[in-house]
Amino acid sequence: MCGISGIIGSKNISGQLLNSIRNLEYRGYDSCGMALNNGKGISVKKNVGFVDDVERKEGLSRMGGKMGIAHTRWATHGSVSQANTHPHLSCRGDFACVHNGIISNYRALRESLQKEGHKFLSETDTEVIPHLMEKNFESLKDVEKAFVATLRQLEGTFAIAMISIYEQDRIYCAKFESPLILGLGKDANYIGSDFNAFIEYTKTAVILDSGEYAIVTGDSFTVKESLGMEPVEKETINISWDVEMSKKGGYPHYMLKEIYEQPQAIVNAMGVDREKIREIAEAMARSERTYLLGVGTTFYVAKYGQYCFSDISGCFLPSISSDEFTNLAEVDEKTTVLALSQSGETYDTLSAVRFAKERGAKIAVVVNVIGSSLSRLADYTVLQGSGPEICVISTKAAVSQMVILTRLAAEFACARGKINESQRDEIEKNLLQLPETIQRMLNEKSGFIHTLAHKYSHIKNWLYLGRGIYYPVALESALKMKEVSYVHAEGMPGGFLKHGTIAMIDSEHYAVVFVPPKEDKKLFDLTMGSIEEIKARKGFVLGFYFNSLDMNNDLFDERITLPSINAVSAPFLQLVAAQLFAYFTATALKRNIDKPRSLAKSVTVA
Ligand code: AGP
Repeated sequence: MCGISGIIGSKNISGQLLNSIRNLEYRGYDSCGMALNNGKGISVKKNVGFVDDVERKEGLSRMGGKMGIAHTRWATHGSVSQANTHPHLSCRGDFACVHNGIISNYRALRESLQKEGHKFLSETDTEVIPHLMEKNFESLKDVEKAFVATLRQLEGTFAIAMISIYEQDRIYCAKFESPLILGLGKDANYIGSDFNAFIEYTKTAVILDSGEYAIVTGDSFTVKESLGMEPVEKETINISWDVEMSKKGGYPHYMLKEIYEQPQAIVNAMGVDREKIREIAEAMARSERTYLLGVGTTFYVAKYGQYCFSDISGCFLPSISSDEFTNLAEVDEKTTVLALSQSGETYDTLSAVRFAKERGAKIAVVVNVIGSSLSRLADYTVLQGSGPEICVISTKAAVSQMVILTRLAAEFACARGKINESQRDEIEKNLLQLPETIQRMLNEKSGFIHTLAHKYSHIKNWLYLGRGIYYPVALESALKMKEVSYVHAEGMPGGFLKHGTIAMIDSEHYAVVFVPPKEDKKLFDLTMGSIEEIKARKGFVLGFYFNSLDMNNDLFDERITLPSINAVSAPFLQLVAAQLFAYFTATALKRNIDKPRSLAKSVTVA
């Protein structure tokens, strides 16, 4: 959503602070700014644009100061403008703060403060915080008490960092639902929305929980709970990522790097302890009902999981988009919810999980970020171990979760007595073919897919069709095309086409069809039927299929042939090829691949 950073040390930190928000830019990149306490007061520089644009305009790195906070913005309240950019100041400039989340009662607070004479310079919800600080400090004459009083007046979600002119040796920060962590360095301490804020400087972190605030100095930190201001003991954790994993490693974009990291991400997913998988599968098997949750890409991964459970165990476990869960689900103590989330911070999924937990459900999560809010709510947590996924567009994290869902479905089927252990092991063995086969496909097919994507980059509308387990593949592949290239693409079941959408088939609407291996005869025949329907209306078909098929060539206008592989692994190859097709379409259209317009890596607001 937004990126927050704070650094306090023994020497000038403005260069480090700039670098810190550069590493957080994937969380939001409409605008950015920094506020530093330079011994004479608080100086603020901020503007619209990417971090490097604002550095050129404002000279952020030259601000000077040993203590500062910074922010990269993804607009929720108020347009993208310099005035709305964080940090925000109080009237007298004695408090500055940055914020990630939504202050739901900000209008009432703003009106009340304006009546008392406070002048607001922005349209944001955030700006009420420094003005509340100013008001509370006037009556309490104590920064910490004023900070806690301010926190108690806020409703909604927030991660806040705040500095003042009254205490030039400490940064205050607080968390309620939006992510916030501390980094403990040798000559400075750090605050960040996630590890990327300070992983270049330290791998020792402390995860704040909702309702906690921290006072951070250059060589110490104190965490307290905001209700009674009682100190809270916190464990430190060691981050296993390293800086190189977060850098591009010679690739032109993080998206391509992360597509190519998928073989390793699958190896890591296969390395998740079987006991952990079995524990969750058995909890699901004991439950009266289980829901698979996610949103955006992770909803399509959950839908993929739905087909996995149906195909392998014959049991229907509905997938529900997190944002709709509370409108649909029947939840009680006999329910298990399996939530998928790369960041573990997505507001919609956190809300759905809290809703289920309050009603007695067991919570299992699959996340990519250690210590994330979702994992701290769960009864069972699978850390998928995909490594940092920097590109806003999710690829390796999604494929990794699909592997884990397949393993879960096999264990679940075993627990329910639908398959025996050797059949379960056969499924795992099939998945083990994926890393090498995907690597081969990436090596052999990228060039051709690049050429094809550039040839058709002028197409404005795509229909993505898939039957059975290829339907979620079609949905996710269409989302990739939309979010990275801004080209319209609609995913749908192959059988759905004839019930209306087929009217769209013309010289402007092209179709991508995911053809299953011919061994999957039922799905294969039905899919070929969908292609015939399109061809009968002179529609264009790009077929993704496996080279074991001696295909009737005039059926496809274009084709991407994939290495043959077992039926369990086949959907993965289709998806990876479609990721490349979307990526190369976006490069042809010169899009901002890793930071597409209007997107954010983790949507931590409703
Ligand atoms: C993925 O390509 C999208 N950027 C987005 O749909 C994302 O999957 C969704 O916001 C969920 O994020 P999460 O996995 O971190 O919960």
